[in-house]
Amino acid sequence: MIRLKDLQELKLRGEKFSCLTCYEATFASVMQAAEIEVILVGDSLGMVVQGQSSTVPVTVADMAYHTRAVARGNTHALIMADLPFMSYATLEQCLTSSRKLMQAGAHLVKLEGGLELAPMIRSLKSAGTPVCAHLGLTPQSVNVMSGYKVQGRGDTAGKQLIDEALQLAQAGAALLLVECIPAELAAELTQKSSVPVIGIGAGAATDAQVLVMHDMLGVNLGRPAKFVKNFMLEADSIEGAFVAYHEAVKGGHFPGSEHTFSA
Ligand code: KIV
Repeated sequence: MIRLKDLQELKLRGEKFSCLTCYEATFASVMQAAEIEVILVGDSLGMVVQGQSSTVPVTVADMAYHTRAVARGNTHALIMADLPFMSYATLEQCLTSSRKLMQAGAHLVKLEGGLELAPMIRSLKSAGTPVCAHLGLTPQSVNVMSGYKVQGRGDTAGKQLIDEALQLAQAGAALLLVECIPAELAAELTQKSSVPVIGIGAGAATDAQVLVMHDMLGVNLGRPAKFVKNFMLEADSIEGAFVAYHEAVKGGHFPGSEHTFSA
């Protein structure tokens, strides 16, 4: 069974780990056979499972349902579950929503935002719940950001992102996740952070990578993002695609420069 301390040790040894999204038991069991270390029950399920146009409609009940399903198929990977839109707007909501996901089988919860998350992270940590802070492109804020765009470009925005991420780690975040930021910025954050940094669309220097399972299996409702690679093209089974992804991440071969944003 993978634990947070194992991920911390991998970071200290300079070894990478892999993470994929998953929403149900069968794929979870195939992922653990492929030795994927972290399974993310992402609120991306709103889009890839429910067919919604964003993650905003996803509820805590939806997340708990899929977390329970993943937990039943898994004995090996660390399960991280997303707190969905507006389920952690106050400390009380945050604790109640997190309790539901942890009781459904999550080992840690993930929330999206910046410095405003510090009180939630402190409270969750003292209530026995580890947290991953998701910064950069935060899809739950799509209506504020007016679309899915690269974040942290330019000196001021880049410095702010690094400061906020490090302060959230200081507040107790066990993991950081950065989405769609320039590779140079993600590399600087990874080097400065004492906790593991997971990247998506953030270049190859982060301690770990995550992709949405449907994207890396080449089944998309829309056009795949620049940072996506279809691993089915080099595999003859779904398990083979998970293994190819895991090995590419561990070996530092994914993402390539064609999947990466520059400053
Ligand atoms: O919900 C999700 O799948 C995510 C990943 C894109 C990191 O948060």
